[in-house]
Amino acid sequence: MLRVTSLASANLLAGKQPGEMNMNNTLQDSPAQTIGPSASEPSRRRFLDYLLGTSAVATVGAIVYPIIRFMSPPQVIESTESSVVAAKLNEIPVNSGKIFKFGSKPGIVVRTDSGELKAFSAVCTHLDCIVQYQPETKQIWCACHNGYYNLNGKNVGGPPPRPLEEFKVNTRGDEIVVSKA
Ligand code: FES
Repeated sequence: MLRVTSLASANLLAGKQPGEMNMNNTLQDSPAQTIGPSASEPSRRRFLDYLLGTSAVATVGAIVYPIIRFMSPPQVIESTESSVVAAKLNEIPVNSGKIFKFGSKPGIVVRTDSGELKAFSAVCTHLDCIVQYQPETKQIWCACHNGYYNLNGKNVGGPPPRPLEEFKVNTRGDEIVVSKA
């Protein structure tokens, strides 16, 4: 702006009227092409547009991503274990049972009145509650809705629609080893 003022003064001194001044004079006299705001305005506007655009995208992403993560269920890693040590022999007296972990799911091992070992999935086939052994009835019982299974895993009372999944049982020394059939 100082440059414009000094040029205007020079023009006035040279006897020119203000209406005779033109930008060509100014541009030829000096490399000061940035005197007005219009020279840099398009690039500044483009930069601001870019900034606003990226901010809008980031904001939308910050809102949408957690919603998508919330709505998609976590991946359940299925167990690849095919056999586990469920218990020690002396942990399960006759007419008792014990819950053990078979991969990511619970299992139940039962020693019957006659001393036979049996093992099943401990997940009720009705609504996935964990079952337990009931010594009084000598059955496997689900407390959630009073479901019953016999010692072959068959659903014999209450709402469970299917038998429990049965596992193979072996002993190795004093360990009870359960494996998938
Ligand atoms: S969940 Fe077992 S009886 Fe309903």
